Amino acid sequence: MIPRFDFGDLGRAAFLDRYWQRRPLLLRGAIDPDLLQLAPEELAGLACEPEVESRLVRQQGPEDWSLQHGPFEEADFAALPERDWTLLVQDVDKHLPEVARLLEAFDFIPDWRLDDIMISYAADGGGVGPHTDNYDVFLVQAAGRRRWRLSDADFTDEDLLPDCPLRVLRRFPVSEDLVLEPGDVLYLPPRVGHWGTALGECMTWSVGMRGPSDLELASAWIAHLGARERPHLQDHVTGGDTTPARLQVSDLAAARELIADIAPKQDADFARWLGAFLTEPKPGFEIEPPETAPDTATLAAWRAAGRVLLRHPWARFALVSLDERRLALGCQGEPLTLPRALEPALERIVQQRRLPLDTLPVPADATLLDDCLAELLARGWLIPDD
Ligand code: SIN
Ligand code: CO
Repeated sequence: MIPRFDFGDLGRAAFLDRYWQRRPLLLRGAIDPDLLQLAPEELAGLACEPEVESRLVRQQGPEDWSLQHGPFEEADFAALPERDWTLLVQDVDKHLPEVARLLEAFDFIPDWRLDDIMISYAADGGGVGPHTDNYDVFLVQAAGRRRWRLSDADFTDEDLLPDCPLRVLRRFPVSEDLVLEPGDVLYLPPRVGHWGTALGECMTWSVGMRGPSDLELASAWIAHLGARERPHLQDHVTGGDTTPARLQVSDLAAARELIADIAPKQDADFARWLGAFLTEPKPGFEIEPPETAPDTATLAAWRAAGRVLLRHPWARFALVSLDERRLALGCQGEPLTLPRALEPALERIVQQRRLPLDTLPVPADATLLDDCLAELLARGWLIPDD
């Protein structure tokens, strides 16, 4: 089954134009629940692995929350009460390819925006309390029912419960009260207050987005420029100045100009850098190149045999134009410069996570495509389906 997002009567274009990054929206039956199959035991098993990020949240009273970080042991789960707790596991898409498949349904969003699929299992009454997040999220109800209360109030850190290990809001004027069933999806833009509570045991898959803050973007760009041979600030003291220690208006202007000069230009260097930066992996998700990779002759044979290449589940792609002759493919924080003749094939490669080789558009010089695929396979960004 091909994972699809069903926008119903609204349609994909209207969702993107009217709601995406703007307003919350509930989409009933948007995802086939058959695509959302993961046993709670398997989630608990993941939470016992040391390389997997997981949390256990318990609510002991109206304002009494506890937070425990994984890895967990079976005994931790055995000791849990009957209700009011939830287990949350981050980056499940990076650990379980069958979960990563759901990302194929999110091909209406730029690939570099997709952060992870976090999966929660909650006992009756469980949840992480009322809160806001800094990123867009699609809350996909996978199993059981969950009540979501939304708030259209503006919140600040002043509204958080003091001395609480979680970011829980102490006031929460409810503007909407919804119950989600398996397959329903609640889309939330950043900073919309939400409060999920399990109605009986339930599982929720959160498809979370990412994007750097202004400061993250600026500091990464400055780090990219490097420290060597940079212009330095000079003063503007003249022979008539009697108080040379004083900062002049011209000094302030010069300092501002010096910083303004760092701003990236609309050029190939910035485009290549940005495409790479936006796809940087989180620590622990750096792709190791495979020991062996197919050469171009093997690829030709694979094409004839109708073989399929898959996107590595940790890879996010960003394709960007550099000039009339070249494009750059960013992945894993690295840019790969490629000829324009590959554009139709590259558009397919960045859009689809499953690539039947014989469906890729072949340029006039077919070796260009096989050289490119051989490089992507050698880096481990694509992997053969076997
Ligand atoms: C959850 O799955 O319980 C938490 C998801 C969220 O509120 O962001
Ligand atoms: Co949230």
